[in-house]
Amino acid sequence: MPDYSFMSLKDKIDIQRLPKHIAIIMDGNGRWAKEKGEDRLFGHFNGVESVRDVVEGAAELGIQYLTLYAFSTENWDRPAYEVSGLMELLVDTIRKEVPTLNKNNIRLHVIGDTSMLPEQARNELNEAITETSTNTGLNLIMALSYSSRWEINTAVKRIAEDVKAGTLQPAAVNQELIQQYLCTGKFPDPELMIRTSGEYRISNFLLYQLAYAELYFTNTLWPDFRKENLYEAILDYQGRERRFGKTSEQIQTGEITKK
Ligand code: IPE
Ligand code: IPE
Ligand code: MG
Repeated sequence: MPDYSFMSLKDKIDIQRLPKHIAIIMDGNGRWAKEKGEDRLFGHFNGVESVRDVVEGAAELGIQYLTLYAFSTENWDRPAYEVSGLMELLVDTIRKEVPTLNKNNIRLHVIGDTSMLPEQARNELNEAITETSTNTGLNLIMALSYSSRWEINTAVKRIAEDVKAGTLQPAAVNQELIQQYLCTGKFPDPELMIRTSGEYRISNFLLYQLAYAELYFTNTLWPDFRKENLYEAILDYQGRERRFGKTSEQIQTGEITKK
């Protein structure tokens, strides 16, 4: 075996076999702050630095889609001070980050029930989406006030309405059509889903889209997560055999066409 120990983690990544879409459940901000004897909001505040670093890392590698779970439908039930602190942080961060997004050719998208967001946050978001809409590099998808069951519920309602209006035939409802009615209709399914903080659950995130994603769990708390941790996750992903229900032999003899 040649000695590859001099190579950085980034150099070890096979650029030809990158996941197109990576989704991350950014968890552990509260525990990170608690460990330091600080308020939970301090954790969220520091989590922004991780977002910056990971977005930059993904863009540098040439990842096409990065979805970040930032606030779930269920998170609205947290103490009011935490919810309003998070909303303020959101508005503030978006306002400050737009020039950097543009500089790095990153296009912002949002998935979730944005009607629940405070008006100012919604306006800031819409402005940032418009101002970055012609960028052609990384698609950064923020899941805000998002939950998968909300998304599926909304999609089913819209399908039913279109059938009722006569613009859609029930026989035309298939997996591709359902996918198009989801908030992620324009994006490919994630091949890799990362969750930080040592929790092993999906927490209502992209239930339909993650059907065949590789799942990667790390004990690192989100405010400690950096590019290097992203590289580790990608390397782990590249070491896996994705079988899509077939046998290992079928994959190795190239009998199936890769998705
Ligand atoms: C993730 O960190 C951020 C949000 C859910 C908004 P948490 O706030 O869930 O942190 P823990 O899980 O309590 O440590
Ligand atoms: C999931 O984290 C949601 C986000 C990271 C935004 P939570 O911390 O809310 O998840 P649970 O409730 O512990 O599963
Ligand atoms: Mg949590």
